[in-house]
Amino acid sequence: MSTPLTSYKTEISLNGEITVAGDKSISHRSLIFSALANGVSNISGLLEGEDVLKTAAALTKMGATITRLENGTWKVNGVGYAGLQEPTDVLDMGNSGTSTRLLMGLVAPLGFKATFTGDASLSKRPMKRVFDPIKQIGAEIIAREDNLLPATIVGTDEPLPISYEMKVASAQVKSAIMLAALNINGTTTIIEPEKCRDHTEIMMQYLGLDVKVEPYKNGNKITVNGCKDFAARDFIVPGDISSAAFIIVAALITPGSKIKIDNVGINPLRDGIITTLKEMGGKIELINQRLIGGEKVADIIVGYSNLKGIEVPASRAPSMIDEYPILSIAAAHASGTTKMNGLAELKVKESNRLAAIADGLKACGVHAKVGEDSLEVTGGIKDQNQVAKITTHLDHRIAMSFLIMGLGVKGGVEVDDSEMIKTSFPNFMQIFSDFGIEFKK
Ligand code: S3P
Repeated sequence: MSTPLTSYKTEISLNGEITVAGDKSISHRSLIFSALANGVSNISGLLEGEDVLKTAAALTKMGATITRLENGTWKVNGVGYAGLQEPTDVLDMGNSGTSTRLLMGLVAPLGFKATFTGDASLSKRPMKRVFDPIKQIGAEIIAREDNLLPATIVGTDEPLPISYEMKVASAQVKSAIMLAALNINGTTTIIEPEKCRDHTEIMMQYLGLDVKVEPYKNGNKITVNGCKDFAARDFIVPGDISSAAFIIVAALITPGSKIKIDNVGINPLRDGIITTLKEMGGKIELINQRLIGGEKVADIIVGYSNLKGIEVPASRAPSMIDEYPILSIAAAHASGTTKMNGLAELKVKESNRLAAIADGLKACGVHAKVGEDSLEVTGGIKDQNQVAKITTHLDHRIAMSFLIMGLGVKGGVEVDDSEMIKTSFPNFMQIFSDFGIEFKK
């Protein structure tokens, strides 16, 4: 069942101090590594979004014990790096590409079968990028035509250490191979064409695992020596910069706003949105920078700003790949044109985001032009007499972006569904409600 939601032009400014939900990427990984450790891990700040809960449920079906304590901490009883068992049921991954791809890698060198399914959005997303390396490791794949879900991974008990050069800069593919490498004797080598988020590398170093990262051309060469026991450690998950980005843009475009977002992960391979919004004239300050579990964290201060259009280089795409929907909303509120380059990967996210953003902006009366792998948005919001209707294609980031768009559009903006917002940002609506802004059902 879908739940449409509408936002309207607001006279209320965003003021105060908030926190956003935990980082999705770090949450998935902290559950996975805790399940593979020897002993008990406590995870605080875990994102309790549906995507992460899918990872937890799958790990539970493979033998880990995962419980939420009353104080909100998650306790995981690890089974050891080789201790997972064949799931007795299909693993339903819902909307979550990260759960699917990471866990497919994880099970490839375990000598059992696991079947993965997902929702309508996930069932359209390309899996060949992860099937290719895991076949080289020795696993067999039974999948729908065109390498789509549902798919069964027939794990091998004689896995091979591979040397793999990735074709796309994907942290999910890199992490899938790194997780497989934990159960492979010898050295697994991965070459990434461009540097992409390195939470898996950071977490493995934090756990004392044998992982090495060296610069290689435009990216890195990563080597992992597997079959090593490791002891459980506790994790503290920082706030998600990809979630914070929605609130940052809402504050930048709403006159009179001044907010502080505490405890946000600012990993340098995730912070492209901050660089870009600052280049557009956004008043954004990072204070109290610190390291938590090897991850950079800061508090972010944002004030209403007059934004201007810029050109965003393709080289920045991996560090802000999930932020183009909300950046496009900032661009619509800026003066001049913003050109975003290097966006081919946007076509294979939870929806074809390139098309969904452009269609949505057009429905709001904003000029947007899609290129082969680029998007040009010309700023300027016109008053509309009717509510602009947005098709979200089961994409949480499209839904949140256009709800924020509506805060500046007379006539309002209606998204056709808001249910999937809880996959990544369960307290999104509550944060706006606390600011005094309500979206209407
Ligand atoms: C993620 C990597 C990115 C990102 C996704 C989370 C991760 O996907 O879009 O939301 O946690 O590794 P790709 O690996 O496909 O770029």
